[in-house]
Amino acid sequence: MQQLAHKWDAQLYNNKHSFVYDFGASLIELLDPKPEERILDLGCGSGELTHKIKELSQAVVGMDKSVEMIQRAQTQFPFIDFVVGDASDFHFEQGFDAIFSNAALHWVIQYKQAIRCMYEGLKEGGRMVVEFGGKDNVKTIVGQLRQSLLKRGFVKQSELELWYFPSIGEYTLALEAVGFKVSFAQWYDRPTALADGATGIKDWLVMFCKPFLEGVDDASVFEIMNEVQASLKPKLFKNGKWYADYKRIRIVAYR
Ligand code: BEZ
Repeated sequence: MQQLAHKWDAQLYNNKHSFVYDFGASLIELLDPKPEERILDLGCGSGELTHKIKELSQAVVGMDKSVEMIQRAQTQFPFIDFVVGDASDFHFEQGFDAIFSNAALHWVIQYKQAIRCMYEGLKEGGRMVVEFGGKDNVKTIVGQLRQSLLKRGFVKQSELELWYFPSIGEYTLALEAVGFKVSFAQWYDRPTALADGATGIKDWLVMFCKPFLEGVDDASVFEIMNEVQASLKPKLFKNGKWYADYKRIRIVAYR
């Protein structure tokens, strides 16, 4: 499986993709942070949810692989500790009471290593509360993108695997294999309204699917974007809004 480094446009993320963290509020309710707890926000992006957790717990650390996101997080919330780090290869001297992660773990193809790091990063009895893309996430959008690439001979691009979208069965087995006790697991359909009525799907592709278009000439990119948008319109455009076919997996597990 090929995984490419992804450079984030933190400004575009904040302007047009704020739904990523807007949805995180109910996950914080599930986390139920306590004032004395030390909490890690794994894949914190530009720090909005880290900030919300910080209002409830004193010792919060936000970690993200993207330097651009961490810079933005640090600028927005200078009173919070943010670090650049890889979810599949991290270690902190002091253990956490809880590890929280929203809409990030599907970027971690080395998921078994991430699970091992989370387990080792928790204190005995500590919990992980996470949500990310589950089985069949964005299948309609990305399936069409792959088809449009393949049709034009961009075979390598059409086969790119950027994400890990597991079923509950697969992920909870992997958690139990390292010793986690899973207390809650849910998979659910969450069609997600995109920010901009007319260009929503194209904006989503530009934000999240750039690696699929590497090595594709500008004229073909233009055609592909238009074709993907036109083909998806009957399925994903409703009442003047574009919806991404998000499926979520939500897990609580204890060390
Ligand atoms: C998601 O949050 O499900 C997601 C975001 C970007 C790309 C793929 C999936």
